[in-house]
Amino acid sequence: MSLFARSVCDNLIGTPTRQQPYAHVYDVQAKIVARRPSASPWPCNSFHHNKTLVIPKVHFHKMPQFKAWTYTTPGYPSAVLFSDISLPPLSKNQIHIRIQASALNPVDIQLINLPIWYLPGLRYEKGIGEDFAGEVIGVGADVSKWKIGDQVWGFTISPGGKFGTVGEVMPLDTTKAIILPRKEGLKATEAASLPLVFLTAYTALVYYAQIQDPPIEGAQKRILVLGGSTGVGIYALQIAAKRLGCHIVTTASTRNIDFVKSLGANEVIDYTHTSVLKGALTYLPDGGYDAIIDLVGGMELLPHLNTLLKPEAAYVTIVGDKTSRNKLGGAFIYPFFPRMVLRTVAGYLGYSRKYYCINLHAKEEYLEGNPTSQLARYGGLI
Ligand SMILES: NC(=O)c1ccc[n+]([C@@H]2O[C@H](COP(=O)([O-])OP(=O)(O)OC[C@H]3O[C@@H](n4cnc5c(N)ncnc54)[C@H](OP(=O)(O)O)[C@@H]3O)[C@@H](O)[C@H]2O)c1
Repeated sequence: MSLFARSVCDNLIGTPTRQQPYAHVYDVQAKIVARRPSASPWPCNSFHHNKTLVIPKVHFHKMPQFKAWTYTTPGYPSAVLFSDISLPPLSKNQIHIRIQASALNPVDIQLINLPIWYLPGLRYEKGIGEDFAGEVIGVGADVSKWKIGDQVWGFTISPGGKFGTVGEVMPLDTTKAIILPRKEGLKATEAASLPLVFLTAYTALVYYAQIQDPPIEGAQKRILVLGGSTGVGIYALQIAAKRLGCHIVTTASTRNIDFVKSLGANEVIDYTHTSVLKGALTYLPDGGYDAIIDLVGGMELLPHLNTLLKPEAAYVTIVGDKTSRNKLGGAFIYPFFPRMVLRTVAGYLGYSRKYYCINLHAKEEYLEGNPTSQLARYGGLI
C-alpha cells in the first residue's frame, strides 16, 4: 500500500510546507480498484468484482534528490561517488541546510582510505567533509535558535556518518554540530575554509602548548611551528602572531617563505635547503622554545627535545610519527605507535619534555567570540 501510495504521489504536485520548503507534501487519498482475476479458481472472500477500496488519507512527504560526494569502500579518489541522496525527515533537534561552500581536508582523504570500510557491515554509503557554509532550509520542532533563511557556517564531524558537507544539502544535529551565524562580510567560501584548520591550530597552541589567551604582558612566548604554510599552519601562525603575540620560527619550502612571513613568522627555515634541526638550533632562544607545534609529522626533532624545549614546554603534534599524507594521523594512531604512548607517559611523569599527539577540540567557544571576531575579514586573519 505504501509503495502504491508512493507511485501515486510521484505524479502529483504538492505545496511546500513552512518547515521544509524544499519538500513536497501531499495529502493522498488513493483509490484502488481491485478486480478478481476472471480466471481465478479461488473463491474471493474479501474482494468482489470491481469493488472500490478507499484508502484513508495519508500525509506523505516526497523528498527530492540532491547530489553529494560519497564513498562505500576505501580508495581515494577512485572510490568517490557522485551520488543522489535525499534528506531524512527532520528530527526535533535537527536543521537542514543547503550547502553553499564546503572544504575538503587531508583528513577526508585519510578517512576514505581507511581499510575498515572493506568490512561487510561498513560498506554503506558515507558522506565526506566537515566544514560548511550554507542556508537553513528546514528547522526541527525543538530548534528555536535558527529559522529558515538563516546564513550559517560551522563544523560537524561523524567519521563514517551517512552525510558529509560536500554535497548540496545535509542534516545537522544542533546539539552536536558547531553552527554559527554567518555575518555580512564573511563570504561562504571563506567561512567554509576555516573551522577544521582554525580549531586544530587553536587547540594545539592554547590548550596543549598552554600559550595564554589573552597573552600575559611582558612574557612573550617563542615557538617553533613545523609546517607554517599548511592549512593548519596558516591559522597557527596568525593566531600565534596576531592574537597570542608570539615570536615564531617556522618551516616552509622556498616558494612559501614570503607567504609565511606575511602571516606573522619572524624566521623561516627552508626545509628544502636546510635540515630542520639545524635551522631550529640556529634560531634557538635562550633556554629553548616555549613550544614546538608540529603540523607535518615525523620524528626528526624528537631525540633533541631536551635541547630544543624549555623544561616545562611541550612538543605538540597534530600528525604523529607517521609521515604519509594519505594515512590518518592525530590521537587516533596512538594504539599503532607504542613509542608515542611511551613518550607521552614519560613527559607526563616528568622524565622528558611533554609530548602530545592530538585531535582538534570541536569547541564552539574557540570559533565564536573574540577569535571569531578576528577571523577572515575581521581584523586581518585570512
Ligand atoms: N589531529 C588533528 O586534529 C588534525 C586536524 C587537521 C589536520 N590534521 C593533519 O595535519 C596535517 C596537515 O593538514 P593541513 O590541512 O594543514 O595540510 P595541507 O594544507 O594539505 O599541507 C600541505 C602543505 O604542507 C607543506 N609541507 C609539506 N611537507 C612539509 C614539510 N616536510 N615541512 C613543512 N611543510 C611541509 C607544503 O607547503 P610547503 O611547500 O611550503 O612546504 C604543502 O603546501 C595532515 O596530515 C592532516 O591530516 C590533523
